[in-house]
Amino acid sequence: MVRIAVCGSAGRMGRRVIALAHEDTEVNIAGAVEKPGNPAIGCDAGEIAGVGRLSVPVVDNLADAIKGADVAIAFINDPEATVEQVAICRASAKPLVLGTTGLSSEQEQAFKDAARGIAVVKTSNFSVGVTVLLRLVEEAARLLGPRFNCEIVEAHHTQKCDAPSGTAISLAKAVAKTWNWDFEKSVRHGRAGITGERPIHEIGMHSLRAGDIVGQHDVLFGGVGESVELRHRAQSRDTFAMGALRAAKWVVGKPQGLYDMVDVLALR
Ligand SMILES: NC(=O)c1ccc[n+]([C@@H]2O[C@H](COP(=O)([O-])OP(=O)(O)OC[C@H]3O[C@@H](n4cnc5c(N)ncnc54)[C@H](OP(=O)(O)O)[C@@H]3O)[C@@H](O)[C@H]2O)c1
Repeated sequence: MVRIAVCGSAGRMGRRVIALAHEDTEVNIAGAVEKPGNPAIGCDAGEIAGVGRLSVPVVDNLADAIKGADVAIAFINDPEATVEQVAICRASAKPLVLGTTGLSSEQEQAFKDAARGIAVVKTSNFSVGVTVLLRLVEEAARLLGPRFNCEIVEAHHTQKCDAPSGTAISLAKAVAKTWNWDFEKSVRHGRAGITGERPIHEIGMHSLRAGDIVGQHDVLFGGVGESVELRHRAQSRDTFAMGALRAAKWVVGKPQGLYDMVDVLALR
């Protein structure tokens, strides 16, 4: 039985992690954390998740919640606090499964520094489909070559705080790496006005925000007289929540290091 502490427990993802963990006979919810001031603090985590009383109160700090847990799962909407959370996990010598996206490059570095010494599974997308899509995109980029133009379009619900999505960034990085391009220099966010001819060394990135779309990613490789399109569509947040639970079970007892879903799914 793996005991988990859920950070961001009243959020869209946190509630699904708790609901699915409740149905899973291999995990136990040992702690639930929310941002100080969140109305869920003091309430029962199961009731917040809509699965009935679990006798796990939502608290306002991870250091307390992680004491009785083997691993923390965090889906919060505050990248800065993510760096603090990994430091708390390290101080408690507990592994972390992190789904939060939108970290700046400075925050990514601070996160990596703070994570040294513990095992962390960090990914912008816990779905099996996107993990495989990343592989397919790398292969398509390799086989088609940079004479095909790559454009990435992602669509999400209106409450999403960061753009482009972490998954879209991972997809663009996979293409840039395959073509030996510098990601920062080659990515172009949207187009407007008299843009001139499209440069060859460019990966177009476009973010759509509408309604309650859970998440869609399209990768288009456009050539002369033909194009190839790869699409992933998430119909439910449960795909991410199930992946995070799978990662939590996998990471307990693993040596220190930074892992992703390719490790969890043994796709390397
Ligand atoms: N990797 C993946 O597969 C994946 C999948 C889906 C989403 N995500 C990412 O996961 C994150 C959360 O998404 P969501 O849709 O669940 O967002 P959400 O509904 O806004 O939930 C986030 C929750 O985290 C809480 N929170 C903020 N700061 C906190 C802190 N310091 N300690 C504890 N809790 C804190 C928020 O509280 P307040 O409301 O009081 O601010 C909120 O309840 C986003 O970065 C999103 O992009 C990743």
